[in-house]
Amino acid sequence: MRRAVCPGSFDPVTNGHLDIVGRASRLFDEVIIGVLINQSKTGLFTIEERLEMLREATAEYGNVRVASFHGLLVDFCRSQGAAVVVKGLRAVSDFDYELQMAQMNIGLSGVETLFMPTNPLYSFLSSSLVKDVVKWGGDASAYLPDNVLDRLVGRLKQN
Ligand code: PNS
Repeated sequence: MRRAVCPGSFDPVTNGHLDIVGRASRLFDEVIIGVLINQSKTGLFTIEERLEMLREATAEYGNVRVASFHGLLVDFCRSQGAAVVVKGLRAVSDFDYELQMAQMNIGLSGVETLFMPTNPLYSFLSSSLVKDVVKWGGDASAYLPDNVLDRLVGRLKQN
């Protein structure tokens, strides 16, 4: 079975992430979304909340699973039986760091990274930007699935 991992922080998942996951799901038998547990960075949403939003947002895909991991991405890939990481590239500015990580990962373990060009509709999109837009009352409905938008509005109202 050909499996790929789509890793990230997903705090929260955006339509840009989902575009990459959906396209990857057509190229691989199974896609595992790996949510990084980053002990040195507290996010807006807990890991459980991020996993839940991702599960809801990817429910339409029969071959997408969601899991969290800590430590090295390549160890997570090995534990999942995945030989490939799929990453979206929004712009040239993403490329430098992504290339470094891809080269480190292949050196560490042989796990390959495939870069997928982001849909131009989402080339400027990031989780940080949508949080800021929603925080200040802007309309982010074009950039988030409904379940995530509802939660984000609710969360930022509380704060
Ligand atoms: O959504 P993000 O925060 O840009 O995702 C970054 C992520 C999770 C893909 C990256 O930080 C990562 O792979 N972290 C795992 C730790 C690791 O393997 N580090 C060495 C990479 S070369």
